[in-house]
Amino acid sequence: MPRVVTLAHYYTAPEIQQMADKVGDSLELSLFARDADADIIVFAGVRFMAETAKILNPNATVILPDAGSTCSLVTQTDVTTLKAWRESYPDHVHVSYINSSAEHKALSDWIVTSRNVDDIIAHLYAEGKKVIFSPDRNMGAYLNFQHGYDMPLWSAVCEVHDKFNQTALDEAFAAVKTAKYLIAHPESPLPVLQQADYVGSTSGMLNWIKTFDKEPDAAIFVATEDGILYNMRLARPDLNIEQAPIYAGCQCNSCPYMKMNTIEAVKRAQAGQGTVIDYLTPADMDAARAPIERMLEFSKRYYA
Ligand code: 13P
Ligand code: SF4
Repeated sequence: MPRVVTLAHYYTAPEIQQMADKVGDSLELSLFARDADADIIVFAGVRFMAETAKILNPNATVILPDAGSTCSLVTQTDVTTLKAWRESYPDHVHVSYINSSAEHKALSDWIVTSRNVDDIIAHLYAEGKKVIFSPDRNMGAYLNFQHGYDMPLWSAVCEVHDKFNQTALDEAFAAVKTAKYLIAHPESPLPVLQQADYVGSTSGMLNWIKTFDKEPDAAIFVATEDGILYNMRLARPDLNIEQAPIYAGCQCNSCPYMKMNTIEAVKRAQAGQGTVIDYLTPADMDAARAPIERMLEFSKRYYA
């Protein structure tokens, strides 16, 4: 029998998370995939996550349950144009968010996740380096604003987080009579991040909720994909945790790509059927692995 390991991101539905051996943020899942003693890794997430797992554990068969599970940060980035952009800054270090294709990673000097982006870019600036950042414009704008950096930014956004809106938030805050807090993922727009009490990765936000010790009746607004509200409410059923509002239309902040991981698709993948990540050549994987490993080496301290 093949050894099958199933990984799920926090943005998948609760029933999918319950089928997984490991639930986590992008960095945790990459590390788990790298170290997994498995013949088959089922990645209930999106394609760039499954590709990263394959790059880090090339001997395993990595299966994405649904071929359509992409990410808008990937689809909004034309790699030929990105290459020309990167070449127009020959004396800069190119830092790319992990939400990028393998080809994109191969054009990068460092890969970062929302967990370590702050520390890695601070480290590069401390070394006197000049930095360009891709693909997430919102994340890059927040770093420039927070730290006074001058990084040229690529311009793609997460179609889910980009919907959060300051005016809608102001209205929601005004309607609350108790204390209120906002926590946000750094893929959200800058005006929303400027208002946040905490900005961080999915695991970082979950940890903030777990350790919340202020007003017990406070309203806590969360600006991120709705899947993780399940984990937050499970961890702290005593708290009033709300999805942050968006500007118009439905109040739904589901990632359509994460939600393609249905029970049936994950079960099929566990039986060996689905999108096998078998299209990356050894040379493609080597080129993409170097900047990922630079990040993992730097991030060891998070797991020390
Ligand atoms: P995390 O690394 O914070 O889990 O984020 C992944 C992601 O896709 C957010 O939209
Ligand atoms: Fe991509 Fe946004 Fe979905 Fe994350 S939530 S996978 S960034 S589209």
